[in-house]
Amino acid sequence: VPKGSMNRSAMYGSNLLREHRENKMKKRKDIENEIRKKRNLEDPTVNKDKSREEIEFLKTQLVVTAWERKRMKEKVSFGKRTNLPMMEQRRSLPIYQMRSELVKAVKENQFLVIVGETGSGKTTQITQYLDEEGLSGKGIIGCTQPRRVAAVSVAKRVADEMGVKVGSDVGYTIRFEDQTSPKTRIKYMTDGMLQREALLDPMMSKYSVIMLDEAHERTIATDVLFALLKEAGKKRPDLKVIITSATLDSAKFSKYFLDCPIINIPGKTFPVEVMYSTTPTMDYIEAALDCVMNIHINNDPGDILVFLTGQEEIDSCCEILFERVKTLGDTIGNLLILPIYSALPSEIQSKIFEPTPKDTRKVVLATNIAETSVTIDGIYYVVDPGFSKVNSYNSRAGMEQLVVTSISQAQANQRKGRAGRTGPGKCYRLYTESAFYNEMSRNSVPEIQRQNLSHTILMLKAMGINDLINFEFMDPPPKSLMVSALNDLYNLEALDNDGYLTKLGQRMSQFPMDPTLAKTLVASVSNECSEEITIIVSMLSVQNVFYRPKGKQQEADLKKVNFHHPYGDHLTLLNVFKAWERNNYSERFCELNFLHYRHLKKANDVRKQISQLLQKFGLPVTSCHGDPDVIRKTLVSGFFMNASKRDSQVGYRTIRGNNVVGIHPSSSLHGKEFEYVIYHSLVLTAKEYMSQVTSIEPGWLIEMAPHFYKEIGSDSQSRKRLKIQPLYNKFSKDQNSWRLSSIRQTREKA
Ligand code: CDP
Ligand code: MG
Repeated sequence: VPKGSMNRSAMYGSNLLREHRENKMKKRKDIENEIRKKRNLEDPTVNKDKSREEIEFLKTQLVVTAWERKRMKEKVSFGKRTNLPMMEQRRSLPIYQMRSELVKAVKENQFLVIVGETGSGKTTQITQYLDEEGLSGKGIIGCTQPRRVAAVSVAKRVADEMGVKVGSDVGYTIRFEDQTSPKTRIKYMTDGMLQREALLDPMMSKYSVIMLDEAHERTIATDVLFALLKEAGKKRPDLKVIITSATLDSAKFSKYFLDCPIINIPGKTFPVEVMYSTTPTMDYIEAALDCVMNIHINNDPGDILVFLTGQEEIDSCCEILFERVKTLGDTIGNLLILPIYSALPSEIQSKIFEPTPKDTRKVVLATNIAETSVTIDGIYYVVDPGFSKVNSYNSRAGMEQLVVTSISQAQANQRKGRAGRTGPGKCYRLYTESAFYNEMSRNSVPEIQRQNLSHTILMLKAMGINDLINFEFMDPPPKSLMVSALNDLYNLEALDNDGYLTKLGQRMSQFPMDPTLAKTLVASVSNECSEEITIIVSMLSVQNVFYRPKGKQQEADLKKVNFHHPYGDHLTLLNVFKAWERNNYSERFCELNFLHYRHLKKANDVRKQISQLLQKFGLPVTSCHGDPDVIRKTLVSGFFMNASKRDSQVGYRTIRGNNVVGIHPSSSLHGKEFEYVIYHSLVLTAKEYMSQVTSIEPGWLIEMAPHFYKEIGSDSQSRKRLKIQPLYNKFSKDQNSWRLSSIRQTREKA
């Protein structure tokens, strides 16, 4: 093999995907060959000279080989890191020394906090220890993960260690995907899923043990579960609750859970030398790329982990690095460049766990998923620009934004620690020491204090928890966030004047999605277009289905135009799905039309799940045969708060908030001039863009949300010139106090 040719072909995203597909095809061919051989064995003309017994023996041999191949294939995708037998690997983990102490502590305490370095074995081992000790006899051992990817990969890993299939004794549940069976004793799931289960079963009666893993991440769902499980524990003395964390904020967890014991798992970590920038960095991406090249050219062998903020940034950095390394020629060793972010298919993700080939240095470009959720062995260098992308809700503007923000000191230290797992390492902080001490906060702000809470509050209300002020949050959200969430739910008619759940709200809470989408879906039932809306909602809940490969963007864009609906993106998504459906859901159709087959398949899964939910609640799945007006009106009933009006000076202005926004360049409405539009979300890049935009008639806003909009006189007869203003502006000042007083009322009633 010529130097580098193998590794460099496996560089980034699309190449990896192609390589993976080719591998898969090859493996499939191999298995087919095996089967063909086996068929020959059964052909008496071919096997004249063999005895019957001999043929039977050969047959069993082949079956085993084919089965083994299948196992091998599964193993590859599990991300097995070495060839050590599983048992030996399990015993070599730091947590193994603590096995009996842990089991004893769980048996003797209802609540327990366990702290240990990432990679020490908390997630994969504790559940197995408890299962081995028979604690799954009285109920499932559940373990939550903030990230879907982690839930899936960990379940696969544990199933592999136990030598069982995922979905049997070990399973996982994530939104729209349930891989468990009545046999399941160990169940991994996202924290959001367990929160959803609490709706129907607040006592958690299915579980004997629940482990809230990665508690330091402080996702909203984990924070809510803290309170729900504390409550469930009071009523169920036999329920065991374990809180695990990779960082040292354990005292706070312990205090919250009635001063429960804390167990520390000693990690085998090595010292990490920290290097700071001497001057502030202007362009962190450029600085990170320079830093990687520098390490690669001048430093000793050892893999590099770079923390970036998101998928696009990572993909483009992979490409730039690839080009830069090419210019070095053969003078320097190979650099294997690998991306990791949650949207990456899990088979490709597992590439990063494979041992680095000889004479090669690996560089992994990761989002903060690599801070604690996944562990990569063999990292000696960490490059930390000091940023991450967080979802943040601006309650005043009423919008959610993904913003790149400075990380906390705790996160920076977590990142640093990644370099000291296999030996002494180095961490390059691309910010000054003074910035670290003076500008970074000590801990990250919990999600619950910065995100849109309407989904969470709807679920709490549906559980009969009306008194949100006295709800036992570990860190209560700011009042402004609560009030704006209550307001949104009130506007969506999920809550009544007194802040109680309405019938509609009850219905909405049964769908695992944002309240705006849930409202749209519920409205589609009475508008008799639930089939279409189900498809649109499914398409909105998966990743972008349009594929724009480098060098073929124009070609791809031309194909996309074929699907464009003149009224906008929601109907365009419907067109795409319908066309794919007409072509028997084929992969070939996707290739020809530059669509992501995988994402469409996922959308179809989601669609089936939602249809099942509708049926389960006795709601009919009916079609309006694609009538664009019926569909758009229904969309308005959920998204009326996300409406914008054209402004010839600046593009568009949101009706609520009056913010300047544009139509995203990728929208089918880009460059078109409709007077009124609704949008799915706002994205902040160079400017504020509306994403997934659909044109509407202004009159629909008043028709679908008369409690939210009022007409303020029209300039002419034309409906299009109707002037519309959100009602609440009229008393926006008092609005907060009004909502708050109703919360208080609620409390008094309760
Ligand atoms: O939860 P914690 O970070 O303490 O560790 P873990 O996730 O239980 O991982 C224990 C070990 O299993 C690590 O050394 C990982 O390398 C390995 N592992 C793996 O090889 N593949 C996975 N999908 C998950 C873990
Ligand atoms: Mg873990």
